[in-house]
Amino acid sequence: MIKFDFTSMCNFNKELLDKKAEVLCKFNNSYMNGWTSPIDQDIINDVIKTSKEIKTHSSCMVVIGIGGSFLGSYCIEKALAPYFKDNNFKVIYAGTTLSSVYMEELLCYLETVDFSINVISKSGTTMETTITYKLIKELMEKKYSKEELRKRIVITTDKEHGALRQEVKEEGYKSFIIPDNIGGRYSIMTPAHLFPLAFNIDIEEFVRGYYDGYKYLDKAFLYAVCRKSMFDQGKVVENFVVYEEKLNYFSEWLKQLFGETEGKNGVGLLPTSTVHTRDLHSLGQMVQEGNKILFETFIKIENSSQVKFKDHDLHNINNVVLDSVRIAHKKGEVSSIMITLPELSEKYLGEVMYFFMLSAAFSGFLFGVDPFNQPGVEVYKKEVREKIVI
Ligand code: PA5
Repeated sequence: MIKFDFTSMCNFNKELLDKKAEVLCKFNNSYMNGWTSPIDQDIINDVIKTSKEIKTHSSCMVVIGIGGSFLGSYCIEKALAPYFKDNNFKVIYAGTTLSSVYMEELLCYLETVDFSINVISKSGTTMETTITYKLIKELMEKKYSKEELRKRIVITTDKEHGALRQEVKEEGYKSFIIPDNIGGRYSIMTPAHLFPLAFNIDIEEFVRGYYDGYKYLDKAFLYAVCRKSMFDQGKVVENFVVYEEKLNYFSEWLKQLFGETEGKNGVGLLPTSTVHTRDLHSLGQMVQEGNKILFETFIKIENSSQVKFKDHDLHNINNVVLDSVRIAHKKGEVSSIMITLPELSEKYLGEVMYFFMLSAAFSGFLFGVDPFNQPGVEVYKKEVREKIVI
């Protein structure tokens, strides 16, 4: 079981607890809660089968997507990949940058290998994804026949709408669907993430863990209440803290999940993150003695590799530091929550992601905003469109 420790929180607003029935009612009545319904086993089988077929002719898969069409699978891939052994199937994530240096080097590399691509965009209109896809497809058209392209291009998008769905219809490419009632950052239990993960991860174990996460619904609500109480007391920053470098991108996923869910109408906690013990020697000073605008959420891993240092277990030293830092920060008036995973595995990542998604949605309702849209992201896109036609 995942453990939750809320005991180091300052007084949280008990009146918010009374809003539970109202929040659950809003959540259950929301059209965009499709990610709580079980995924069809046929989809999982298709995802696994397609990844196996691709492995027979490609040595590398390029996944093209951004935001909620990228961070979920990327953070799990990073969390579970070995640090140094290179025994995973090569999955490259592109589409999150317009850096021409990155693109030039990527295209040069792809010229030298047999590869396939998975373009992921629910809307089919995202600029970064479109540009990356078009540039890579140009290279593929030089390298492969039309028939080969049909084996090597997989498109994950809306069931009916958008340019990508149109392309699937015209070219006969393999495709997966992101359901209407599931938004990008809540799409972890769709092929948008399961397909890229299927190359290296036991996705069936992940899926089982994910749905098991429902048992933490009460804790997810309590966490949302704590966060909103902190905000109301002027603690407007939530710092996510991990003690395993592999979880760095898990924090990035959390930042996107909570940032896009809550940051509307002038409210919402600013999510930040630190990786310890590295950042104890940089932002640690600010947290301990700086502006008292933040609280922290620690993610602890109970069991890990067994490396001995003198008479100690190194992982135990890491966790003793974590516990000590919480005490030290509390002395510096920084409250914290701790979420403890028994180990870093498909199962517990699935469970904890579901917990965080529930909590983010509940938080959105407590903050009085729509948890499932992100209208602010459109503003920069409009500015770009006025200057350049893509
Ligand atoms: O969470 C979200 O909805 C967003 O972050 C989107 O996933 C992101 O903007 C990418 O959108 P799309 O999948 O339409 O390309």
